[in-house]
Amino acid sequence: MSISEEMYLHYHGLIVPKETHSYESLEFAQGFKFEDDDVLAVTYPKSGTIWMQEILPLVLNGGDLTPIHTIPNWERVPWLEEKQLARVVDKLASPRALVSHFPYNLMPPSFCTSKAKVIYVMRNPKDIMVSSYYFHQMAGFLEDPGTFDEFMDKFLEGKVMFGKWTDHMKSWRNSELGDRIMYITYEEMAQDLPAALRRISDFLGCNLTEELIQKVAEHCSFKSMQNNNMSNFSLIPKVYLDHDKSPFLRKGIAGDWKNHFSSEQLTRFTSVISKELEGESFSLPWSLD
Ligand code: A3P
Repeated sequence: MSISEEMYLHYHGLIVPKETHSYESLEFAQGFKFEDDDVLAVTYPKSGTIWMQEILPLVLNGGDLTPIHTIPNWERVPWLEEKQLARVVDKLASPRALVSHFPYNLMPPSFCTSKAKVIYVMRNPKDIMVSSYYFHQMAGFLEDPGTFDEFMDKFLEGKVMFGKWTDHMKSWRNSELGDRIMYITYEEMAQDLPAALRRISDFLGCNLTEELIQKVAEHCSFKSMQNNNMSNFSLIPKVYLDHDKSPFLRKGIAGDWKNHFSSEQLTRFTSVISKELEGESFSLPWSLD
């Protein structure tokens, strides 16, 4: 199975969409100078990236709603590797928040020498695959996913943007960043957002009051984000993101894979992922079966 050379470019073995990335943007990321107070949320695509683009400014600025109501998410908390960054970098409020889909091995040298903190958001890979399948249907700049079964093969083989989920996750789980990195799951956030926000706020040393935690949780709920034009991608032309095919903020739940996987697909998926994680010293926060 091959990937579309027209739609993707290759960068140190990584597949990225040309619409949002270029060799210049990837090199710009390599030369990016991290500050000690920068905060980076890292995700494999479809794990909760735009959720973090909503959460981080509010946690860092004490709940001021101005950025989430006036700045589109991709400019408010830009992707380190995307073309947008060079355009908006000088406008970022301090402390700066960024997101990235880079695996750990592609992080720029200044990241490694800085004290910038990282929040790595993990999501059950079965739900990631389902979310990604619909995203490939609505995103005009990504290859057509084919059938669900065909897409599962592509996902498991890593013939999708940002490669294999297992490689991405292993790179960050084994990164040895000590207390600079915090791991959180999408499922934890979906189950109890205020509790997740307390953890994030403590990790970042923001110490938000309970009143502010509740306020931030309300504005970062799935419903609020669906209604926020600065976060729901409704500003992007339909040719790039067609919400009639599938909304970007699609279901926002844990466990949607149960509505999509056959028992044969579950066995295939679990066996490939388990094999690739054999011998790792960490355990997954969810059961794969
Ligand atoms: P679904 O397609 O399962 O609904 P990313 O931002 O990394 O591309 O991830 C997108 C996924 O995160 C989508 O999952 C989207 O609905 C979900 N998401 C975004 N904001 C959310 C929120 N506030 N609550 C729950 N899920 C959210």
